[in-house]
Amino acid sequence: MCGIVGYLGNRQAAPILLDGLAKLEYRGYDSAGICVFSDGKLKVAKAKGRLANLSGLIDGGRAISGTVGIGHTRWATHGAPSDVNSHPHMAESGKIAVVHNGIIENYLKLKEELVRKGKTFCSETDTEVVANLIEYYYDREKDFAEAVRDAVGQLEGSYALGILCQDYPDTMIAVKKESPLIFGFGEGENFIASDVPAILRYTRRVVYLDDGDMVVFTKDEAKFYDAFFDPVEKKIETVDWDISAAEKGGYPHFMIKEIHEEPKAIRGTLSPRIRDGRVVLDDIELSKEYLEKIRRIYIVACGSSYYVGCLGKYILEKTCRIPVEPILASEFRYSEPVLGEDTLCIIISQSGETADTKAALEEAKKRGARTLAIVNVVGSAIAKAADDVIYTWAGPEIAVATTKAFTTQLCVIYLIALYIADNLNTISPKEYAAIVDELMVLDQKVALCLTAEKIEKIRYYAEQYFSVRDAFFIGRNVDSAICLEGSLKLKEIAYIHSEAYAAGELKHGPISLIEEGTLVVAVATVDQLFDKTMSNVKEVRARGADVFGVTTEKHAEEIKKTVPSVILVPETHPLLQPSLTIIPLQTFAYYVALLRGCDIDKPKNLAKSVTVE
Ligand code: M6R
Repeated sequence: MCGIVGYLGNRQAAPILLDGLAKLEYRGYDSAGICVFSDGKLKVAKAKGRLANLSGLIDGGRAISGTVGIGHTRWATHGAPSDVNSHPHMAESGKIAVVHNGIIENYLKLKEELVRKGKTFCSETDTEVVANLIEYYYDREKDFAEAVRDAVGQLEGSYALGILCQDYPDTMIAVKKESPLIFGFGEGENFIASDVPAILRYTRRVVYLDDGDMVVFTKDEAKFYDAFFDPVEKKIETVDWDISAAEKGGYPHFMIKEIHEEPKAIRGTLSPRIRDGRVVLDDIELSKEYLEKIRRIYIVACGSSYYVGCLGKYILEKTCRIPVEPILASEFRYSEPVLGEDTLCIIISQSGETADTKAALEEAKKRGARTLAIVNVVGSAIAKAADDVIYTWAGPEIAVATTKAFTTQLCVIYLIALYIADNLNTISPKEYAAIVDELMVLDQKVALCLTAEKIEKIRYYAEQYFSVRDAFFIGRNVDSAICLEGSLKLKEIAYIHSEAYAAGELKHGPISLIEEGTLVVAVATVDQLFDKTMSNVKEVRARGADVFGVTTEKHAEEIKKTVPSVILVPETHPLLQPSLTIIPLQTFAYYVALLRGCDIDKPKNLAKSVTVE
């Protein structure tokens, strides 16, 4: 949550900061602010609400001149979204300015001590405490870097900080612990940011800072220190994707752009890992001997990534014959999970920063399990901490509602399933080949779900149903798991109350909520369970529900007998079918949200990466 950016060079800082914040707004959008060295003074501008408010306030950055500055876009944790709680925060005397992403857990204790020492505060934030603490040490030590080092030594919790000091107009300091931060090398200019897109317009040469790192830099030089304040060499990485990947490219929203990118993202994730009809996972080191010892697999994640885990249960159990338990990271970490060396923990996270997922990973490691992470963001905390990592090559995902990251995570699950099953001989060569053959054309089949004709039909159904109050998604087997994701999409971006149930479960309670005008989305792609799901559809129709169905082309005629509104998807191997079924559910949610006038890419109360518990 929250995005920070910093610039130090020869160009005007404010427009660069605003541009960077626009790329980070997905991280939080309750308020935004910048602080720029202007005529020798630290000048701050901040505004509640979207970045556009701040931009309007400072005339797109033209109203504040200066070539050094820091910026912030906020997802509120401590204190309501308001001008006063917005970052940057200044120390009492105005000597120190700070932007912060993370949470200082001991801020109240520190605040009390600082109040006893005579400091006064104007906001409710933990960040203002950091600014004052740095100032306190600076007043004693008269050295900017040492003051930051000593203040940071007092902090408990997570932080990525960008810091300016009134007496050091050519210097910026940044530190990181458990919140993402990158450093960008330019020519005669340098940058910090929470994420690559914020600075990609200016540089591709970046350092992914590690926990405990501190960088002290001018426009021409950067010195890196570790947690003990010892100088360290950092590896410079080159970002190989293009800025256009982080822009809308003519689409009205990132979400619909990212939906249309799904075939490419799937191809990018699968094709380098399938060679001559075999799954090749060069990225990981899971030996046959180790795999033979596994007695249980946990899949640990949050939100949509967790739903990939729910699908993973069906896919891995069917192919590998090992019990699989998908579990929410927020529950796993406090549940004293039963695991050890015979347990593989698959950790799934798009951002690689989700606080609960990261903590769950640490818990699994502590208890002796091997961890295998599926992550989209290169160099993120979870990617670094796991024993093995497989990247989903989905490219940057900006819309808060995940789409292409979800489908590529699922692709990695297919690959892992085949890899383990092959090692354990739990899959026949024929079945293995059948799945691989379908994986190789999966991108093309997903593209068939996104033709103009298909989209037109979805839009039509969105127009029929966009004003419903309640929706239920029902299905059986893998369809029940994909319903969880379809339902989440609808509720998070279109703000429609929506629930997902295994179709057979409706009659055990939820059916009492079905009434005239309730929308039921029935997913029925599993051949042997098709008739059973249709029986459940009849039950809800008998009680007045409007039903919108999703099935495969082969059931086109049959489904029409029960469901009037239908979207057909191509057929694939039954275990891969959810990769196709999810496409109309994502697009349906998108068009419903569009018709309801929702802020699709930035749904209320949400943020892309959830770095708080
Ligand atoms: O970055 P992560 O995959 O760890 O994020 C987990 C969830 O916060 C995320 O999947 C969330 O549910 C999505 N925004 C839903 O679209």
